[in-house]
Amino acid sequence: MRILLFGGSGQLGFEVKKRARDLEFEVVSPVTAEVDISEREQVRKCVAAINPEVVVNSAAYTAVDKAEHEREAAFRINRDAAGYVAEACRAAGCRMIHISTDYVFDGSLGRELREGDPTNPLGVYGKSKLEGEQRVLETLDDRALVLRTQALFGQKGVNFVQSMLRLFPERSSLKIVDDQWVSPTWAGWLAEAILDFVRMPVGGVVHASCSGMVSWFDFASEIQRLARPSFKGQPLATLERTTAAELNRPAKRPTFSAFDTSLISSLLGRPPISWQEGLASYLAEIGVLEQEESQQEK
Ligand SMILES: NC(=O)c1ccc[n+]([C@@H]2O[C@H](COP(=O)([O-])OP(=O)(O)OC[C@H]3O[C@@H](n4cnc5c(N)ncnc54)[C@H](OP(=O)(O)O)[C@@H]3O)[C@@H](O)[C@H]2O)c1
Repeated sequence: MRILLFGGSGQLGFEVKKRARDLEFEVVSPVTAEVDISEREQVRKCVAAINPEVVVNSAAYTAVDKAEHEREAAFRINRDAAGYVAEACRAAGCRMIHISTDYVFDGSLGRELREGDPTNPLGVYGKSKLEGEQRVLETLDDRALVLRTQALFGQKGVNFVQSMLRLFPERSSLKIVDDQWVSPTWAGWLAEAILDFVRMPVGGVVHASCSGMVSWFDFASEIQRLARPSFKGQPLATLERTTAAELNRPAKRPTFSAFDTSLISSLLGRPPISWQEGLASYLAEIGVLEQEESQQEK
């Protein structure tokens, strides 16, 4: 099967590309200099020329805080360009898998979020991603699958796990938010799920995260516990609890955005792995945890 992947140089796209090739999918993944998805005509020509069975759109404007003062850029890529990709798929008669986010929610429900729960993004990034989802679904109906994910960590790109591993030996203490809860998701697991959906003609919105939930503070503590042996006795930062209000970042984040994963479990015929399993696999992949230890952690 031929897949056209936008965003292949990003954190998630990199994992999709790597696994797709291992599974012998034919993957075409132009870089932004070749196809800028915010250029409607470039997208139309590319999709028509490649003529894939499925287009995976992992390209996005992902700078959540910067989006607060770069509104135009966020909407151009996350809403308008997502719409251009969907239009090009409709014209070429192919399916689209579009990646979205938990930031379409305000996180105030206090329970795991289902696909049909009311959306209410708190910032520009979340608003632009929500409008992108809507464009894609309006254009392609059930020929589009919107996979919402959250708190990704993969081999490439900046993510919370990488930041912690860098900061632990650099700092004497680190303040970490302890009043926001997420389902940290290993991009390697999500990439495999995306490729399962490439073969499965499912449409609509599906929540796609690792299972379980944790506060950022407890997540950082677990990263430190697992990674400590790899620092070979070096002193590591003491972790201190803080609140989102105290941290006061430009963009507000949802308080509680863990997903209900019943739907993805029934579609894939297996539940997602837990965030702990995802973290152990990731640390093993990047050489922080021995393979044997990672098996024991699961
Ligand atoms: N990271 C997370 O924690 C997280 C959480 C929830 C949802 N998501 C969603 O998951 C998806 C993947 O995120 P990620 O972490 O992999 O993002 P990322 O590492 O920031 O990668 C973004 C990708 O989009 C590409 N891109 C940006 N503007 C483009 C344009 N105009 N034309 C073509 N390509 C463009 C980038 O290419 P260049 O390298 O050329 O800029 C890059 O390959 C996104 O839809 C994001 O909203 C991410």
